[in-house]
Amino acid sequence: MRCLIGAGLPVASSCNSEGVCAKCGIRILEGMQNLSSPNVTEIFLKEKNNIGGEIRISCQTQVLGDILVDASYW
Ligand code: FES
Repeated sequence: MRCLIGAGLPVASSCNSEGVCAKCGIRILEGMQNLSSPNVTEIFLKEKNNIGGEIRISCQTQVLGDILVDASYW
């Protein structure tokens, strides 16, 4: 999430990155292997909100290399 905001891209959120709202989900188009593994919070949020595997909860994810992403509101 910090990387996206730092790049000037807006990221939806209503929990201030506390890992509660799941609104910060971002679709990963390329580079899924360049992201940290989902943590317990992300796994819980994705199951609770029925979020697909191509979406990562950005406030719970670390970027480790190049990725290509998209959001429905961009
Ligand atoms: S900003 Fe709310 S879960 Fe990521």
